[in-house]
Amino acid sequence: MIVRSLTSDDVSLAPAWLRERSMLPDRWSDEHTRTLIAEDGAGEPIGAGTMWTSRVHPDRYSVDLIVAPAHRRAGIATALLAALADLQPAPKPLIWGAAETDPAQEFVAAFGGRTIQRAPLDTFQTSRAVRLRPHDDVASAAAVSRVALEQAWADMYEWTHADWHPMGPDARAALVEDLWDEIDPHLSSVAVSASGAIDAVLLVYIDGARPVVAGETVARNTAAGATLLEGCVRRTFEQLAGSGVAETLLDAHETDPHFAPLFDALGPVTRWHRIVEFHPRRSA
Ligand SMILES: CC(C)(COP(=O)(O)OP(=O)(O)OC[C@H]1O[C@@H](n2cnc3c(N)ncnc32)[C@H](O)[C@@H]1OP(=O)(O)O)[C@@H](O)C(=O)NCCC(=O)NCCS
Repeated sequence: MIVRSLTSDDVSLAPAWLRERSMLPDRWSDEHTRTLIAEDGAGEPIGAGTMWTSRVHPDRYSVDLIVAPAHRRAGIATALLAALADLQPAPKPLIWGAAETDPAQEFVAAFGGRTIQRAPLDTFQTSRAVRLRPHDDVASAAAVSRVALEQAWADMYEWTHADWHPMGPDARAALVEDLWDEIDPHLSSVAVSASGAIDAVLLVYIDGARPVVAGETVARNTAAGATLLEGCVRRTFEQLAGSGVAETLLDAHETDPHFAPLFDALGPVTRWHRIVEFHPRRSA
């Protein structure tokens, strides 16, 4: 078996099993965005692996691997992982996520994978808004300035990720770079105090096939945070239902203290996405 850089020619000639994962050519962005391909003795591709860091989360490499179905359980993914680890300028842990029931969870478990987060995978009926209580402080996110909304979003993101996937030092600007183009401010909600401070933020992303709803209180210890967030979810779900959107996805975590308690009223959750951290073994 030979392991080498994946090129744009490999991408255009990729067999169906490899196209499933949309791997980008090696170094597509910089030294931290790497892709390798494994070939058999005849030069046929039998596996590929990629890893990358992001400006928001530079402390770990995200990773993805794929092995041709006929070549599985022969150590090819293990070899690709070691080759990727060899390319890391400084050793960092890997992060990977998929449905809890995905067979690849067993592969990651074989490398000592540690679950660092779970998130609901279900779609949620917007008609469930009636199960939640409204709140007088809640308004459309279009009622606050773009700068204030971006600041609230970055504050919220920072503390909700601090314990399990901390942001890098220069991450705030990267985090909000495309935010305004991806959300619908009228469907999104904020809780605003009497003094004008944003206490909770709930955004509706509309860049995919289904909207994605995400948010929390702006600070970890917000007085009455649970009822403020509940009011935001109530309003946003009502707005979505009123716009003819019957189902939405949630980008929320099991550890979000004010959002997680609402999962049962909105769901219940039947399928979980599990995010795992693991440490690759270098070949040398
Ligand atoms: C997950 C995947 C990449 C593993 O590739 P692979 O080359 O078969 O993996 P390896 O042979 O290196 O497996 C190493 C160990 O992981 C575990 N493992 C791998 N696949 C497993 C499976 N389907 N079920 C249970 N354990 C598994 C085993 O402990 C295995 O050692 P063993 O064969 O000696 O028991 C491959 O199944 C695949 O391409 N799946 C579809 C794509 C995907 O889900 N990618 C995400 C990867 S992070």
